[in-house]
Amino acid sequence: MAKTVFITTAIDYTNSAPHIGHAYEKILADVIARYHRLKGESVFFLTGVDQHGQKVQQSAEREGVPPEQFVAGVTEQFIALWDKLDVRYDAWAATTDPLHKKCVQGMLQRLFDEGKIYKDKQVGFYSVRQEQFLTDKDRNEAGEFGPEWGEVEQREEENYYFKLAEHKQWLLDFIDARSKANNPFVVPDFRVAELRNAVEKIGDDSQSGSDRQSGSDLCISRPKSRLSWGIELPFDSDYVNYVWFDALTNYISFIGYDPTRSTISDQSAAFRDKWPALHVIGKDIMVPAHGIYWPIMLHALGFPDDQLPTLLVHGWWNISGAKMSKSLGNVVDPDLLIEKYGAEALRYYLMSDIGMGKDADFSEERLVERYNSELANSLGNLLNRTLSMASKYAASQLWTTAIRLNEGSKQIPASESIHVMTSPGQPVSLPSDSKELGLRDLIENLPKIYVAAMDSFLVSLGLVLPEEISAHCNRLVEKTAPWKLAKDPGQIDRLHAIVYHLAESLRIIAILISAVLPNAAHGIFDQLNWKMELSGKEERFRLEDAKWGGLPDRHVVGKPVPLFPRIER
Ligand code: MSP
Repeated sequence: MAKTVFITTAIDYTNSAPHIGHAYEKILADVIARYHRLKGESVFFLTGVDQHGQKVQQSAEREGVPPEQFVAGVTEQFIALWDKLDVRYDAWAATTDPLHKKCVQGMLQRLFDEGKIYKDKQVGFYSVRQEQFLTDKDRNEAGEFGPEWGEVEQREEENYYFKLAEHKQWLLDFIDARSKANNPFVVPDFRVAELRNAVEKIGDDSQSGSDRQSGSDLCISRPKSRLSWGIELPFDSDYVNYVWFDALTNYISFIGYDPTRSTISDQSAAFRDKWPALHVIGKDIMVPAHGIYWPIMLHALGFPDDQLPTLLVHGWWNISGAKMSKSLGNVVDPDLLIEKYGAEALRYYLMSDIGMGKDADFSEERLVERYNSELANSLGNLLNRTLSMASKYAASQLWTTAIRLNEGSKQIPASESIHVMTSPGQPVSLPSDSKELGLRDLIENLPKIYVAAMDSFLVSLGLVLPEEISAHCNRLVEKTAPWKLAKDPGQIDRLHAIVYHLAESLRIIAILISAVLPNAAHGIFDQLNWKMELSGKEERFRLEDAKWGGLPDRHVVGKPVPLFPRIER
């Protein structure tokens, strides 16, 4: 049996409410998952919440409630949002789950027993207000710890450390080997150099901080006197784990990893079917957590190199070039946007207005502009006029004919630009002799370009393709003026051919947009009166059906219902 595609996202901190950055990541992972289902692959999508840690403890204290109660409230907000946004995950990873706790403790115990975790003394500057040790990086330009740290004192503390530094060379070799095999550990490619540079710095003292000590091993504990809201160390009840062994482990604990078995072949079939994963994460948590700590943790646990994950590292949504933050008061609330414009409008905007791996500026005006021009005016209009014409000229029946229409042709995304946009491993181009393409040429070529784009996680490019078909169809209508042909009985075959071309194009567009806009895709299929027995179900869309000629002769389509009502502001 083919292996399951296993996709995870970063788990979100439950110290405050979700914002559009969180929404972007969840939608992106959901789109990738839906794309694989579209290809007929089996998918397991895991996401969840990161519930332990200092910030949660502090927020709960401020609100005067126990941390359990505090995280339950915030978690509810995340779950409700994913529901509204149609994010369809297969399992939920909440780090307070006893199953997770057992796995984390089992891992820590094994590494401790194997001498990979040790106790040591840390001496350094400590911020009482922020409850953390400080590093030279935390000093301001004057070389001092600024007022934001409150009182800073010299402190000595015993903690537990995970041996990280000894794996530096292994990690460098691993990163290089994956790149060489054209299967980079980190996607997009440009992040590989950034990660490599960071790994090179392991052992450099300027890197030591609250997570590390001199020598760059990883501090994995906090005394309970400082932090009690965490998973207790199995070998010392005076400490809790802090924090990456807890957070990162969710990726394996929730799919059944058994820490008492040291080889992968001894793990359950359910685990082996899913692992390794594609981790969808933001650029801020690549270094050091996912790019350094995580592969070294897995390596130390005995995961062989071919059983290590891939990181898909996305960029950030900013506000006028600045980071979104509570203190700046510029946090964009996805719930408000959904209320105003609907979930699909937000999904479409977040997937289309950012390049993979890059940052983008969030703009409500752009959201409205793109929705109105690409969805309401182009695709929505196409559906409406196609079904209206079918009803008016052919009693809603489609008639297949041998006529192949060439009107509306255009030089569609030039092969060069497709080359640039897809990954170098997967060059795809349109036939070089067909710069001017008719509608059917376009449709015959686009699914394979769509696959190349989506396999490279270029979701915004994947959306440009159905848009191209839609624009092409609208041009075809303008050029052929069916309302004129309708007046001439000699043109009836041509008229039928036009309506069929448009309906068939809409069927294929629905398939190609279904990963990003599942509801709209169902809307199109419903109005085309197509595969009604699967209405609402994801199996309704299959990439292999995105080829010409699916709708049969004399198929009766439905009546038009506005799919994307224009947003008036
Ligand atoms: N809890 C950790 C991750 C642990 S994963 C084992 C965490 N949580 S977070 O809530 O701060 O961020 C969750 C995800 O949202 C991260 O991948 C982060 O990059 C992403 N984003 C947070 N703000 C973002 C934007 N403004 N834009 C896009 N993604 C952003 O980190």
